[in-house]
Amino acid sequence: MTMGRTILITGGAGFIGSHVVRLFVSKYPDCRIVNVDKLTYAGNLANLNDVSDRPNYRFVKMDICDFSGISSLLEEERVDGIIHLAAESHVDRSIADPFTFARTNVLGTLTLLEAARRHWAPSGWNPYGNGCLFYHISTDEVYGSLEMTHPEGIDPPFTTEASSAGHKCYGDDFFTESGKYLPHSPYSASKASSDHFVRAFHDTYGMPAVVTNCSNNYGPYQFPEKLIPLFINNIRHRRPLPVYGAGENVRDWLYVEDHARAIDLVFHNGKAGETYNIGGCNEWKNIDLIKILVRTVDRLLGRAEDEDMNLITYVTDRPGHDARYAIDSSRIRKELGWEPSLQFEEGIGRTVRWYLDNQDWLDGVTSGDYMKYYDSMYGNR
Ligand code: NAD
Ligand code: TYD
Repeated sequence: MTMGRTILITGGAGFIGSHVVRLFVSKYPDCRIVNVDKLTYAGNLANLNDVSDRPNYRFVKMDICDFSGISSLLEEERVDGIIHLAAESHVDRSIADPFTFARTNVLGTLTLLEAARRHWAPSGWNPYGNGCLFYHISTDEVYGSLEMTHPEGIDPPFTTEASSAGHKCYGDDFFTESGKYLPHSPYSASKASSDHFVRAFHDTYGMPAVVTNCSNNYGPYQFPEKLIPLFINNIRHRRPLPVYGAGENVRDWLYVEDHARAIDLVFHNGKAGETYNIGGCNEWKNIDLIKILVRTVDRLLGRAEDEDMNLITYVTDRPGHDARYAIDSSRIRKELGWEPSLQFEEGIGRTVRWYLDNQDWLDGVTSGDYMKYYDSMYGNR
């Protein structure tokens, strides 16, 4: 039940978090939405300009590792729901700086869990009459890497209304909720650890908690270090497109608003103690996706077809680069009735158009101007 709840959303100034905040602030005017974000390089309040003055919204600049700050906030705001998205989220950065990932993703999650436990447990997990829930947003990368048993691609066994006509499937296995955790990167290892802590709090203390593991998201407001926004921006400016290895790695792509809708459903109807996998039934080899991006950008900018294919530059592979991610999302589809809604072609078209139309946003985040602005407002990070 949502009426009258106060929901603390962590990482709401980031890519997925901003879509979740926007959805909840607009859809649940009776709920108070408190967005807690440290505003790292990846957090940008401009992502929320359209909802920031709503009466049911509050932003608090805070590190999720700040135990006393989080504890006071839970009490002051009478929080009875937490949707936890704050994290360090980029695999390449985790290879360069694993400590920051352990700190935020593992210790930060543990800090939130322990603060929530102390706030909620004394009331028998029913602090204000609506129950309570700790909802942890995680990644499919915790499951490791799937085999590419069909490198040429076969017709996929699962499709949805949103699956694109051309998409293929590159293996026989899919990540399921009962799959083993086999993380390879420091990022996925830190997320796996945080998932285990959430389950431990459920199993040990009885905390109502739920975890979802989602595939790669794409859409507006994604920081341009991730493949899709980075490459759209590079194609526009005719900069090289650094393809790791042979570009044969496969990812399952989901439009970010479809993920936000799944989060809404799981928050309201998910079963405590359970895990749900969320994915797009939408596997693409990186190189095929990159060619779609080049064609789409060139078409929208009125350039000649394939004019910018020569920007594709094969570079040294990412260490420990996972070969293939593919999600079996039948559980959330059957049990909660979720479906991805947007066809990939349409989602990519919308996304490319958004980045081309929002060059100011891209310039702001790539130049670091917005960080200087927020540093002057909130102090140095
Ligand atoms: P993002 O990097 O765009 O945003 C992360 C946000 O967390 C930023 O606003 C940042 O300022 C904030 N943050 C970082 N450290 C913090 C700290 N110590 N205290 C408070 N706030 C802090 O990430 P995203 O892509 O939006 O991912 C959000 C969540 O979803 C993450 O938990 C990620 O693991 C998960 N996820 C992401 C994807 C994806 O494709 N992007 C897929 C599946 C799951
Ligand atoms: P990314 O967006 O970093 O997401 P993740 O590593 O979490 O899947 O990368 C998506 C895929 O694109 C991944 O296989 C790595 C690859 N990639 C490149 O080939 N070049 C790049 O510059 C980047 C950022 C990613």
